[in-house]
Amino acid sequence: MSPVIENMDRMVRDIPAMPVVAQKVMHMLGDPRTTNITLGETLATDISMASRVLQMANSPFFGARQKISSVSQAIFILGHSALRSLIITICTKGLFKKPGLMEQKIWEHGVGAGMAARALAGKTGLMEKDDAFIGGLLHDVGRMILLVVYRNDYQSIFERAYNDTLTMEEVNVLERQEFGYDHSEIGARVVSKWRLPNVYARMARRHHADSADLLGLEENPKTIAVAAQANLIAHRLGFGLHEPDRRVEVVSTIYVEMLGLAKSDVLEVIETTLKDHKEFRDEFSL
Ligand SMILES: [Fe+2]
Ligand SMILES: [Fe+2]
Repeated sequence: MSPVIENMDRMVRDIPAMPVVAQKVMHMLGDPRTTNITLGETLATDISMASRVLQMANSPFFGARQKISSVSQAIFILGHSALRSLIITICTKGLFKKPGLMEQKIWEHGVGAGMAARALAGKTGLMEKDDAFIGGLLHDVGRMILLVVYRNDYQSIFERAYNDTLTMEEVNVLERQEFGYDHSEIGARVVSKWRLPNVYARMARRHHADSADLLGLEENPKTIAVAAQANLIAHRLGFGLHEPDRRVEVVSTIYVEMLGLAKSDVLEVIETTLKDHKEFRDEFSL
């Protein structure tokens, strides 16, 4: 019996919560009265979170240009936006307690899409690179949750998607059949449960929307186009898949048009994504 989610609220209750200190820090980051000192003190109350922050803070991916040796220094040097994206990255990674191949693949897909979204943000100037990275990382957080919470029931859909025997649309249809909701909807609920900025929930909910009409209804359709295009690039490059999905068009897409990019821009974005993936792959491994 597959667990059709009859009660979305109950499903949301099953979604792992964010660690308390992360919740506190995220809340503080949204409050203009917060100082770097109080942020550092709060983070230091959770030694394992603090040490993971410190570890990743030293990556040039998050903007480090010098050796960072304390959490307070990390906050000071990287700034609040990079800190937010670091914490969300750590918490999302923390979903996978015993990572097997499937977990590694979905994580790789998220990180790859995050890198593509970040490169798209750099090219278009539409949003902060850190925010775009998180939007990309979380676009399929619904699939991550299906794997973590409903592993046995999701395995077969996941494997078929991984092997490219299902199209993205077929995956969505199967998910709705099996669970009553697809990963886009589930993902948006995860993001809301974690009380992250709304923009990430919209990116997760709409990243498969592919008509101008649908996207026109959105508050800020271009941020959605960033996540949607990043997802296509991740598929085309084979991030989290058995092999690159050559069926996926990445240059002449509705999202590229919405973002006002030329073909050469898209090719540069792909190049940056591949370079980041190669350079930072180990830092993001599960
Ligand atoms: Fe998706
Ligand atoms: Fe995806």
